[in-house]
Formats: sequence, structure tokens, C-alpha cells
Amino acid sequence: MAQEMVQEKGETLVDPIEQHPGFEDTESKVGLWGHPLHAMSVAFPVALTFCAFGADGLYWLSGNPVWAWAALWATGTAFLFGLAAGATGTMELLMVPGIRIRAAAWTHFVIAVLLLSLLGANWGYRLYGYEAAVLPYGILLSGFNVLVVMATGWHGGKLVFDYRLGTSKGS
Ligand code: HEM
Repeated sequence: MAQEMVQEKGETLVDPIEQHPGFEDTESKVGLWGHPLHAMSVAFPVALTFCAFGADGLYWLSGNPVWAWAALWATGTAFLFGLAAGATGTMELLMVPGIRIRAAAWTHFVIAVLLLSLLGANWGYRLYGYEAAVLPYGILLSGFNVLVVMATGWHGGKLVFDYRLGTSKGS
């Protein structure tokens, strides 16, 4: 109703977020020689989350404890590299005004924190008996983590491809 009234008068609607002085300030501030650290670091937790599910599956199929041991390492390193990736992402979120002001960046933060807590749970659970932990709850958790990491990565990609967050505008 309010929108129609404004349009009847021939005025254009104004998004207060877009009016913020820092809205267009979206360039990455956390990088090495112009290469954004978050984009470089996310590959590790993503790949290791898939590796954990793969190792659990191979343990289920073969019964060979080496795969349960591999899953313990994959879950632990997925969590630790995930924390490192989360730290670089959080620095971008807090330091860059055009990232901080966009709701989509905070949505990615919330999904990512959920992922990190699930990765930590998957690792911590195995520390009390890495072989017994795989079936059934370890592999179920690993499978769920694959879904959550896909959602996190897909959403992070949207921040870059749709909003151009964390990129460079060139010199
Ligand atoms: C926990 C806090 C996190 C925050 C605040 C955060 C924030 C961001 C932001 C602002 C971007 C846009 C690009 C940039 O500014 O670097 C981004 C991109 C991305 N994020 Fe995160 N992130 C977090 C954790 C994670 C985690 C744990 C993962 C995956 C395991 C992840 C996966 C991605 C991916 C795949 C991209 C796209 C990278 C590209 O295509 O260059 N993020 N994230």
C-alpha cells in the first residue's frame, strides 16, 4: 500500500541500506599480495568434509580400521582448517563496510558457524573411540556435514558472484 502511494506520486523507492556511505566498499581487506585469504582457505574444510564422509563409507564397506583412523584425521583437520577459514571470513565481515552492511553476508556467517559446530562435534565424538564412533552416528553426521558444507560453499559463492564481495575492483 505504502509502495503504491509512493509510485503514484512518481517517486522512486529508496533502500536505506544502499544509501549507506560504505555500501560500495566491498574489496577484500584480508589477503596476501592481493589474494583474498578466505577464498584460499575455504577449499581445505570443504574437501576434508567430503573426505571424512568417504572414509566413513569405506570403513562401512571394508571394515578395515585404517579408514576409521583416516576419518578421525579428516574430521579433525576439517574442523581446524574450518576454524582458520572462519577466522579469515569473520575478519572480512567485520572490517569491510560493504560486506558488514549486507544481510546475505550475515546469513553466510550463521550457516558457517552451524557447520563449524557440526565439524567439531563429528571430531570430538570420535576422540572417545574412533572405530566404534563410525557406525551409525559418525557416518550420519559426516553425511549431514556434507550437505551443510555444500550449503555454506554455495552461499559463499553467491556473495562473490552475485554481490562481488571480497573481490578487487582493479587498480
Ligand atoms: C565463520 C565465519 C565465516 C564468515 C564470516 C564468512 C564470510 C564470507 C564472506 C564475507 C565471503 C565473501 C568473499 C570474501 O569476502 O572473502 C565468503 C565467501 C565464501 N565463503 Fe565464507 N565465511 C565464513 C566461513 C566459511 C566456511 C567455514 C566456509 C566453508 C567451509 C566458507 C565458504 C565460503 C566460500 C566457498 C566462499 C566463496 C569464495 C569464492 O568463491 O571466492 N565460509 N565468506
